[in-house]
Amino acid sequence: MYYNWKQSINTDELQNVSKLINNGEVIVFPTETVYGIGANALDTEAVRKIFLAKGRPSDNPLIVHVADKEEIKQIAVIQTEVEQKLIDSFMPGPITIILKKKPIIPNIVSAGLDTVGIRMPSNKIAQKIIKTSKVPIAAPSANISGRPSCTRILDIREELESRVSVVIDGGNSNIGLESTVIKVIDDIPVILRPGKITPEQIEEVIGKVKIDSKVFEKLLDDEKPESPGVKYRHYAPKTKCKLIYSKDENKQIEMINNLIKGNNKIIVLCLEEHKNKILVNKENIISIGYKSKKETIARNIYSALRDADSKGADLILIEGVEKSGLGIAIMNRLLRTCEYDYVEG
Ligand code: TXA
Ligand code: MG
Repeated sequence: MYYNWKQSINTDELQNVSKLINNGEVIVFPTETVYGIGANALDTEAVRKIFLAKGRPSDNPLIVHVADKEEIKQIAVIQTEVEQKLIDSFMPGPITIILKKKPIIPNIVSAGLDTVGIRMPSNKIAQKIIKTSKVPIAAPSANISGRPSCTRILDIREELESRVSVVIDGGNSNIGLESTVIKVIDDIPVILRPGKITPEQIEEVIGKVKIDSKVFEKLLDDEKPESPGVKYRHYAPKTKCKLIYSKDENKQIEMINNLIKGNNKIIVLCLEEHKNKILVNKENIISIGYKSKKETIARNIYSALRDADSKGADLILIEGVEKSGLGIAIMNRLLRTCEYDYVEG
C-alpha cells in the first residue's frame, strides 16, 4: 500500500497507519534524516519483521523513535547531566542518544545490549505517526541491509514496498544522512556515528567531545566496536567504488583523470564545479553539489550512489570533501561505501 502525504497528512490514512502499528505490522515512513522502516518497539514479533524485511543481522540493534521527552523516561534511564543536556539541546532533531534501557524494551530491539538508542525526529509526519500510535517505534534506515539508505520514495518503492504493509511518501529526505549517534562515556559525549549535528555544535553546549576512532578507521578482525553497526558493510552500491581526495583541488581532478584514462565504464560522482574538467562522457558524470554546500552534498549522496549503481559501470569514482563540519559525516559514509578504498593526495 502507498500513501501520499507530501502535501498534507490524510487523517483516515493516519488512523489506519496507527492501527497497523498496533497490530504488529511494519511501515516505511519519512524522517528528516532518511526514511525509516518501523514497527511497535514494545512488540518482539513486530520488530522481528523489520529484521526480516531488511535482511539485517540480529546482533545490530535498532534505535527507538519517540514523540516527546516524557516518553524517553518510560523506556530508558537518563543517568547523567550530560545526557539530559544533550536531550534538552538537540531533541527533537537528527540525533540518537544511547541510554541505559528499561526492561520494557525487548532484547530483540537492543540486540541483547543493556542500552537503547533513542531518537526524537523533528519530521512532522514521523511525530504524528508516533503520537497517534501511542507506542515508541523501533526503526532502522529503510533499505536492504548494507545498501545506501533511501532518501527518495522511488528507491523505497523499488526496494521495500513489497516487504511492508504501507509506504508513506513525505517527499525527499531533507538531511539525507542518518542521525548523529552519541553515547556518553565517563561524562564525555562520544560520537559513534557522525551526522548533521556536528562535534562543534555539541562542544558549544557540552564542552569536550570525542569522536570514536571507528568513524574513520576500519574495524580490526577481533575488535568489538562500541556501535555494532560498524561491523557490517554499509552504504554500499553493488558496483565497486573508490574515494579520492586532495586539499589541492586541481590535484584532486588530476588524480581522477589519471584513474579514468579513457575508460568509458567509469562513473564519476563529482563536485558541481568540476563537471567540465573530468574527462569522461557527460552521461557518466553525476554531480553531488558544490564543494562549499555540504548540506546539498549530504542530501544528494545516497541517491547519487543509487543512480550511479544503475548504470552498470565497472567502477564508481567519488570526489571526497574535507573532513570538517558536516564533511565528517559525508566522509564517514563514503569511506564505508568504498570499503576504505581511499586515495588522498
Ligand atoms: O537517522 C537515523 O538514525 C535513521 C532514521 C530512520 O531515524 N535510522 C538509522 O537507523 O539510521 P540504523 O539502524 O540504520 O542505524 C542505527 C545505528 C546502527 O549503526 C546501530 O549499530 C547503532 O545505531 N546503534 C543502535 N543501538 C545502539 C546501541 N544500543 N549501542 C550502540 N549503537 C547502537
Ligand atoms: Mg542503516
